[in-house]
Amino acid sequence: MRLSVIGCGYLGAVHAAAMASIGHDVVGVDVDPRKIDALSRGQAPFFEPDLQDLLTAGIESGRLRFTADIAEASGAAVHFIAVGTPQQSGGDAADLTYVHGSIDALLPHLRPGDIVAGKSTVPVGTAAELAPRIEATGATLVWNPEFLREGWAVQDTIEPDRLVVGVSMNSTAGLPDADGERASEVLRQVYHPAVAAGTPFIVTDLATAELVKVAANAFLATKISFINAMAEIAEVTGADVTQLADAIGHDARIGRRFLGAGIGFGGGCLPKDIRAFSARAEELGRGESVAFLREVDAINMRRRDRAVDLVVDAFGGSVFKKNITVLGAAFKPHSDDIRDSPALDVAVRLHGLGAWVTITDPAALENAQRLHPQLNYVADRDEAIRGADALILVTEWDEYRRELSPEHASTLATGRVVVDGRNGLDASAWRAAGWTYYGMGRP
Ligand code: UGA
Repeated sequence: MRLSVIGCGYLGAVHAAAMASIGHDVVGVDVDPRKIDALSRGQAPFFEPDLQDLLTAGIESGRLRFTADIAEASGAAVHFIAVGTPQQSGGDAADLTYVHGSIDALLPHLRPGDIVAGKSTVPVGTAAELAPRIEATGATLVWNPEFLREGWAVQDTIEPDRLVVGVSMNSTAGLPDADGERASEVLRQVYHPAVAAGTPFIVTDLATAELVKVAANAFLATKISFINAMAEIAEVTGADVTQLADAIGHDARIGRRFLGAGIGFGGGCLPKDIRAFSARAEELGRGESVAFLREVDAINMRRRDRAVDLVVDAFGGSVFKKNITVLGAAFKPHSDDIRDSPALDVAVRLHGLGAWVTITDPAALENAQRLHPQLNYVADRDEAIRGADALILVTEWDEYRRELSPEHASTLATGRVVVDGRNGLDASAWRAAGWTYYGMGRP
């Protein structure tokens, strides 16, 4: 099928390449000529395992191209809207400028029968607001949220654990109307390999599809903050939150995943999505229904303070002129994304307290340096550790978590303090090697 993908950021670039890899003829459109230029040369503008290969293969096959001219989207059967919906500056709500801008630009190129499939994360009600303008051209709007995780984006796109398509409904029957029925069938064809493999394909109304996405992210954020709240209790009782997580995680109803206590969640999605959800619920007069999300956000931010306090306390109340090596800058491993990164935030705070901070990260160093040029960046892990008074692990890359032995670190660092902001290190091994180990929510 011919497909267009409007917006070639994280979501769009991966979607375009993944759709070409399953046989579609795809044009990716973006307003940023530098991004288009890089993608057209088969270069991923960000770090994502497997994306580079997929881009190269797609371009070489002739099924994938990128352009800054939205007129080239014309003729596609499905137009995916994959633009960003960042947090508004000065508020919690989502900024929909790019969604409206892309629809405005696309409208003149739509033909009757085309399908516009929104993938961006939007406040519930957005699709209903956009639909009349799209329908006036004879095209149909559906909402098809994306659940990909950075670092696993290619796999999550090609083999998703579920597909959700929100369509227009027949209000009396509560079933898709004729356009909705047709559009959901077209989307089944788009995702044919996943559908054939038995991936759940859930057809809903537009509002439900929009809500599924924010509800999923709200749940994940709540799960992380729940275990971090337990970490706070563990800290005043001498309990160990990692054992607690293992023990409750054996209950299949709870599950161990996303019960990793530490410095909390960050990135371009969870923080802004829970805030936008709260803001939207308040607009709808249901702020109290998701009031707990404010608490989820507050617990999350407190964990960054806690990590900083652990380092400060390790030095008896001041890190002034202490050499602190921060292991990690990305908001999570397998990513160069530093948006709302708890790792970088902790580093910046320590720097603000007068510490001499050195940051290392296998992928995110350039991005971090651009945002915080005042900090010291060292690409080589061992060089970064040399002469350190303390280490703090803030992004659990294997380079630090598995591959850095405490014995080796001892040959490089001057001090013997290690703060494990992700509870990713083997505490007993570090202690046995003479280090004073501090975990998050661990004795
Ligand atoms: C998240 C969701 O997991 C995806 O399903 C969703 O599609 C995506 O947002 C989005 O809306 O686009 P992502 O932001 O890539 O994906 O990252 P996650 O893997 O969810 O991790 C988020 C943060 O939570 C990271 O900072 C991570 O370190 C932290 N985390 C995760 C914990 O602190 N503890 C855990 O147990 C798990």
